[in-house]
Amino acid sequence: MTHSVPTTFLRAGDHMIEMPQLGFGVWEVPDDKVTDAVAHALATGYRSIDTAAVYGNEEGVGRALRQTDVPREDIFLTTKVWNDAHGTDSTRAALEESLGKLGTDYVDLYLIHWPTPAKDAYVDTWKTLLDLREQGRVRAVGVCNFNQPHLRRLMEETGEYPAINQIEVHPYLTQNELREFNEVNDIVTEDWSPLGARLNVIDDPAVVSIAKATGKTPAQVVLRWHLQIGSVVIPRSVTPSRIEQNFDLFDFELDDTQMTAISALDQGKRSGPNPDEFNVGA
Ligand SMILES: NC(=O)c1ccc[n+]([C@@H]2O[C@H](COP(=O)([O-])OP(=O)(O)OC[C@H]3O[C@@H](n4cnc5c(N)ncnc54)[C@H](OP(=O)(O)O)[C@@H]3O)[C@@H](O)[C@H]2O)c1
Repeated sequence: MTHSVPTTFLRAGDHMIEMPQLGFGVWEVPDDKVTDAVAHALATGYRSIDTAAVYGNEEGVGRALRQTDVPREDIFLTTKVWNDAHGTDSTRAALEESLGKLGTDYVDLYLIHWPTPAKDAYVDTWKTLLDLREQGRVRAVGVCNFNQPHLRRLMEETGEYPAINQIEVHPYLTQNELREFNEVNDIVTEDWSPLGARLNVIDDPAVVSIAKATGKTPAQVVLRWHLQIGSVVIPRSVTPSRIEQNFDLFDFELDDTQMTAISALDQGKRSGPNPDEFNVGA
């Protein structure tokens, strides 16, 4: 496939860095399967990979990075610090462990995976991420699953918002207020579980009908909606044909009526936990 993926810009201290607007997620993909999946994604044209320490597959992702002909500097690599490693020394150690498993000496984006409010250490964790960026161990830093109060607190206590906030977004959970807060504060929104697979979003009759009208699949319609609302999107699949299908989004556009119809499916329905209440690993 020859489409080139649009990029978005992330704040990274005194400069900006470019991130592909479409990437490849690997949550729940076992370590022994992830190498083939990432290899197929890279061969298809994806240049952004989203993993996390807690996914248990950083070594398998690392194997794919070593095997590919695509140079490391052409790949945008994201990993995340898990809830049990919040703090200063523990976050530094977590990054070193992730880099060792990935077999690389830097990641492009390092994210706090959850605010984990019961632990109340996300501000110190954020300060550590900012230091790691200044030291060149990571190119940009951000968070996942932060609600507005968590984000405001980072700004109040450190003077800097994350470059990106990776949150659950799909047509049943459009997160309009949080996405707007992100946008106003120059925080890129990155949509996780974009297909809403656990809620069967792609079977929704409105999505299916737009798929028929555009000649695309329901998954492609939903992913195109994410791109057109301005998000970064990171679909996951272990199925080669779906990996390719999810990358084939750049030869059609949804019109305003179709965009509005998909956005109107919002039910405020999460498939994952509420970040205010999620304290696993604390
Ligand atoms: N920061 C966080 O807290 C957080 C939380 C969740 C996810 N994430 C990130 O976001 C990424 C994406 O989210 P996700 O993995 O939850 O879900 P997703 O990408 O929305 O959906 C993945 C599921 O949809 C299926 N699928 C993929 N493409 C399809 C297609 N074209 N047609 C039909 N079915 C399709 C996959 O099946 P097959 O694999 O069998 O093809 C898989 O079961 C994750 O992998 C991870 O990197 C982050």
